[in-house]
Amino acid sequence: MVEIVGADEAMEQALALLEAGEVVAIPTETVYGLAGAATNGAAVARIFEAKGRPRFNPLIAHVSDLAMAERIGVFDPLSRKLAEKFWPGPLTMVLPLRPEAGIHPLVAAGLETIALRMPRGFGAKLIARFDRPLAAPSANASGRISPTSAAAVAASLGDRIKLVVDGGATTVGLESTILKVEGQAVRLLRPGAVTADDVEAAIGIRPIRGGAGGIQAPGMMASHYAPGAAVRLNAGSVEKGEALLAFGPVRAQGWRDAAAIRNLSEAGDLREAASNLFAYLRELDASGAGTIVVEPVPPEGLGEAINDRLGRAAAPRDALSAAP
Ligand code: TXA
Ligand code: MG
Repeated sequence: MVEIVGADEAMEQALALLEAGEVVAIPTETVYGLAGAATNGAAVARIFEAKGRPRFNPLIAHVSDLAMAERIGVFDPLSRKLAEKFWPGPLTMVLPLRPEAGIHPLVAAGLETIALRMPRGFGAKLIARFDRPLAAPSANASGRISPTSAAAVAASLGDRIKLVVDGGATTVGLESTILKVEGQAVRLLRPGAVTADDVEAAIGIRPIRGGAGGIQAPGMMASHYAPGAAVRLNAGSVEKGEALLAFGPVRAQGWRDAAAIRNLSEAGDLREAASNLFAYLRELDASGAGTIVVEPVPPEGLGEAINDRLGRAAAPRDALSAAP
């Protein structure tokens, strides 16, 4: 049975498990992560196994300070500037991997690059105490909705892990933004809470969207974040028995007939919507409705990341092709 322990009391237990090469689910400001020592092949293998994650999909190495990050990745000046501006925080950067850093090859799935992130909160304290980087994907079964609460982790992975550290609901609610600096260009591999506008304001460069082709990055299977129900986007109306995910004042025709309703943000606030997204998808899925219909969410700012996740939730489930 999995134990759920409050973040105030869980530190020593989490450290002991990590030392033993075990995995631990921990809160970060984005989503809960399934953490293991990035330098320990057995621990990293356990992460892939617990999630049922394909081994070709690399993990993020989490660090507690810039010095630890610099021992693992090679920072160009733009990447360093981004790190100084947004770390700790919801930003991941893909950098050339230093082979001598001792990161187990499974973490980067054999690539010569490594994704690095410095989280806030319990995760940061844990890594500082452990004094080594932690590999941590989102703490959900592969292809499913990322967890934003300890209960969601326990529901998804509870029979496969020993400890969930409970830090309450995560504040951001979406996975980190992933960027890769390429010369004087910046590629946005996964939109997140650090928006294209934020990046441009920080370094004066507007990120280019998307991977350069193939499974360049982020849970890049088109179908990801999949609830059990079908998902219909940009809906103007609801059929009887369908569940409704609204945004702003409810406009969808027939909404009174919806089997269940959640509103991402009645005030139309994108931050609030992002923090509610995964929990509400999960709740509407649990309502038993066969289809979740979603009202339009504006594509600006954080709306880009929200629409990215909604698009994956709605994608055909057998889609193994790389997302555009
Ligand atoms: O907010 C987050 O980023 C959360 C918390 C736990 O930190 N983590 C997370 O991890 O979302 P995960 O594994 O679910 O997503 C990480 C994504 C993967 O889809 C992977 O393809 C991409 O990062 N990635 C990892 N290493 C990469 C690399 N070297 N090059 C390109 N993409 C990479
Ligand atoms: Mg994930």
